[in-house]
Amino acid sequence: MCGIVGYIGPREAYPIVIKGLERLEYRGYDSAGVVLYNDGETQLCKTKGKVADLKEKANSEGITKGKIGLGHTRWATHGVPNDVNAHPHYSNSGNLVIIHNGIIENYGSIKKALEKRGYTFQSDTDTEVLVNLIEDIKQNENVKLGKAVQIALNQVIGAYAIAVFDKTKPDEIVTAKLGSPLAIGVGEDEFFIASDASPFIEFTNNAIYLEDEQMAIVRLGRDVKIRQIKDDKPVAPYVHELQLSLEQIEKNGFDHFMLKEIHEQPEAIKDTYRGRLRINDGIIKMAGIEDNLERILNANRIIIVACGTSWHAGLVAEYIFEDLVRIPVEVEYASEFRYRNPIITSKDVVIAISQSGETADTLAAIKLAKQNGAFVFGVCNVVGSTIARESHAGAYTHAGPEIGVASTKAFTTQITVLTLIALKLAQSKGAISKTEFHNYLAEMEAIPTKVEESLKIDGHIQEIASVFKDVPNFLYLGRGYNFPVALEGALKLKEISYIHAEGYPAAEMKHGPIALIDEQMPVVVIATKKGHYEKVVSNIQEIKSRKGKIIGIVTEGDTEVKSMADYVIEVPETIEGLTPLLTTIPLQLLSYHIAVMRGCNVDQPRNLAKSVTVE
Ligand code: AGP
Ligand code: GLU
Repeated sequence: MCGIVGYIGPREAYPIVIKGLERLEYRGYDSAGVVLYNDGETQLCKTKGKVADLKEKANSEGITKGKIGLGHTRWATHGVPNDVNAHPHYSNSGNLVIIHNGIIENYGSIKKALEKRGYTFQSDTDTEVLVNLIEDIKQNENVKLGKAVQIALNQVIGAYAIAVFDKTKPDEIVTAKLGSPLAIGVGEDEFFIASDASPFIEFTNNAIYLEDEQMAIVRLGRDVKIRQIKDDKPVAPYVHELQLSLEQIEKNGFDHFMLKEIHEQPEAIKDTYRGRLRINDGIIKMAGIEDNLERILNANRIIIVACGTSWHAGLVAEYIFEDLVRIPVEVEYASEFRYRNPIITSKDVVIAISQSGETADTLAAIKLAKQNGAFVFGVCNVVGSTIARESHAGAYTHAGPEIGVASTKAFTTQITVLTLIALKLAQSKGAISKTEFHNYLAEMEAIPTKVEESLKIDGHIQEIASVFKDVPNFLYLGRGYNFPVALEGALKLKEISYIHAEGYPAAEMKHGPIALIDEQMPVVVIATKKGHYEKVVSNIQEIKSRKGKIIGIVTEGDTEVKSMADYVIEVPETIEGLTPLLTTIPLQLLSYHIAVMRGCNVDQPRNLAKSVTVE
């Protein structure tokens, strides 16, 4: 979720805020806005598009004066990218103004309650609801802004990094954090608020990083006051003296965006199921499915169209949909589907998977499907993207902007959404027992922690990468749910290290590819306990007997494969259908480290684009 910048102090705020937004552009966004406080009034300017467009608009409208300012780059989650939905957002009175990164999941019920009390809304965003909730509390409970923010945040479900300003009390800014990043820059007699330190590092290297469920009031001439949102307890601020370069800050201290995004996966998966996975109620909430349940459950078949990594996510979905929902599923390369004169009827449901939502082949495939009467459901990461808008319904992944060309968190969040859809459909048609359904929900909720654990073996993976960084070829093998992971692991290695790699169903080796095996051929074999384990062990024996080098991806505590493989990487145990969310992690890290050791441009590999908007 994108960028916030705030300033309060003796300098002109506008240049600081605008330059701060430019510093945050690397995070990807769809619109931008700024609000300035000057002589008792606030002036606001916002626009769909880039910070450059905002600058042009603000300069032409003369909105550049004031010593207090808030700026925002939006990554839309609720409400398509347009001028009205861009931030900042005013409260109904016009006194309060807010900028927000994150998602307020229960904004719908709060909005309904506020509308009953006479509030009106200009935008479709969850953020405008939040600022009016704060106003409603401030007015009705007659409390100060800080207290009103605290009470409001105890009523919302979701993620946020917010900054709120009240023009009737123009000596402070209130800020708060849960899930989305937020840093406070502490200057001589000035304060900065931002998503990371890049907007203020040139002014001060003294930074306070709020923890989750903390709020802060920055007030001119005073110290930063930090409190816990839940119990209102004060928190002593800890001021870090940063020694980071600007570039290091943008990548949150990681060397590349790809590595940053690999490590963002626990949070991204949590953000994707947040508000949807209601374990206490034993339900999955997905409006896009609920509103079209009959059409989808009565489908003759589900056709999944996608490209690249998204196609691999579709293959995982095929396994889980047929396993749980018992509806026939076909997975099609969009580029093939659109030209092979496929048979499509109104009884078909087409699921289009696309991180960018702009892939030309996938867009063409869904247009063809719609022309033939099929129902199209989009799974995209970019709100308001073309594929999202062209679909009849959809569900967004909430991975946040993915900057590295190689998809990582897009893949795991796509699988998360698709798994939630399969579980919801299976429950709706009574195809899954209550126990199995609950086990899946509980295990899905545990996945972010298990991904975190899988990320900890990075050092061991670097050692393996150093052994194989110069080989000319790699094989990746998997069975069942892990066959698509083998394909994805091979694609990751190919696209960033330029080593030739192929993924195969493990049993397919004896139908030809085993001729490739010799002592020069490293073979990654995904051999987790759940999923044809014994059969995969036999495949490993076939390779061993031909002197192939085995890198086994195994379940923690495995001893059998450990006794056979040359190298072993352990991942935590989970339900078979969720293993792809864990087994893909070491393969992402392996390809990353090999590429780095080979001196490749990891974030922008040769010949590749992040979104293939041409045929
Ligand atoms: C995967 O790492 C590549 N970036 C590429 O295969 C990508 O998945 C493919 O181009 C599809 O992009 P999309 O998800 O934006 O449609
Ligand atoms: N959920 C808010 C919106 O859609 C904020 C999104 C963001 O993080 O930029 O406007």
